Amino acid sequence: MRKEIYRMPDVDARAMLDAAKEMTFASLGKREDGRPTPIIRTVNTWIAGDAIYFHGAPAGEKMEAIGGEAVFETSRVIARLPSYFVDPERACPATTLYEGVQAHGVLGVVTDAAEKTRALSGLMKKLQPEGGYVPLDAPMYEKTIAGMLVARMQIELVDGKRKVCQNRTPKERTRIVEQLFLRGDPGDAEAIEDIFGHNDDTPVPTCLQAPGGGRFTAALSPTRNQEALALLRQGAYWLEKISDETVLRSMGAPAVMVGAFDGAYRLIAVARLLGDARVAWLYDVMVDRRLRGTGVGLAFMQFVLAHPVVRRAEKMRLTTRDADGFYRKLGFQDLTEAPRHGEDGRSPSIDMIRTCQPR
Ligand SMILES: CC(C)(COP(=O)(O)OP(=O)(O)OC[C@H]1O[C@@H](n2cnc3c(N)ncnc32)[C@H](O)[C@@H]1OP(=O)(O)O)[C@@H](O)C(=O)NCCC(=O)NCCS
Repeated sequence: MRKEIYRMPDVDARAMLDAAKEMTFASLGKREDGRPTPIIRTVNTWIAGDAIYFHGAPAGEKMEAIGGEAVFETSRVIARLPSYFVDPERACPATTLYEGVQAHGVLGVVTDAAEKTRALSGLMKKLQPEGGYVPLDAPMYEKTIAGMLVARMQIELVDGKRKVCQNRTPKERTRIVEQLFLRGDPGDAEAIEDIFGHNDDTPVPTCLQAPGGGRFTAALSPTRNQEALALLRQGAYWLEKISDETVLRSMGAPAVMVGAFDGAYRLIAVARLLGDARVAWLYDVMVDRRLRGTGVGLAFMQFVLAHPVVRRAEKMRLTTRDADGFYRKLGFQDLTEAPRHGEDGRSPSIDMIRTCQPR
């Protein structure tokens, strides 16, 4: 019964298998003296329909696994939760949130040259999507491919598990979300999205409550980037000459896109944050046109200032054409008014800028 609550829907399990660039497989092989021997290896995989393919050397150890039952697995740690997130004394609630998929079947060798070439081409496309090589069906590869081991496991059973606090009460989940936001370790903001995404009865903690019964997101999922773009196009003069493609690509750059949802999960505000321990930069602040002047911007900025990427920085920077009055309410000053060159007791510093030729 307990296990059922962690079961991953089949479509999600298949998607996770397809997305994995490598997987670990385990099987029971036979040594030369006939003694069974466990084999565990991590291999690059490519999936076509119900078959998982991988390659290796024909004389290698992986050969011993051929003909036997095997299980492939891919998994991801979502977040480690210390016990005190839930209980101040007992160690028992300490746990790890994760998702993982196992695929079972029997391993075989691919002998057909065309199938081998197809599998290896699939692997190359997945691992080197930018190309830069002669396609594998060219005669120059014939000998190499003939001498390679390409193995295939026909998938008989897929079994996915996802543990994202389903076993916790809504109240406990709220506390965990709050603690994750406060901790702010890498991956914690995404873990919060996983908890909300898979437990819709989780009340939003105060630190993430957005105006109008919505909530803030500390890591906007890339699946909402198009929506974020549409929002930015409601007046982002600083992006006017930048193509949609470039704006979308910069959302995926190592900065974090944050946002606010209203009560119906519509995206009503976005911003992009970039920061290290000293300086944080704020980009692309935009509130839905219909809601401007209603306090959403200030509420959102209070959240932004508490965001883990920003709150550890000594200084926060941004540039604006005309919203300086708005940012002054939040303690921002014009660069010329701010303490500099050692006036604030820190080492002297000069703000520098380089005009570049975008390539
Ligand atoms: C600038 C922006 C983010 C502010 O969000 P908002 O939801 O409209 O702001 P709020 O309703 O929370 O306003 C809070 C206060 O700031 C003031 N304010 C809002 N925008 C301002 C602006 N551009 N200049 C000066 N003051 C401004 C409001 O009058 C209000 O003041 P009050 O508390 O004294 O009444 C929003 O208007 C927006 O998305 N604008 C278009 C994009 C943009 O210019 N982004 C910033 C570029 S860096």
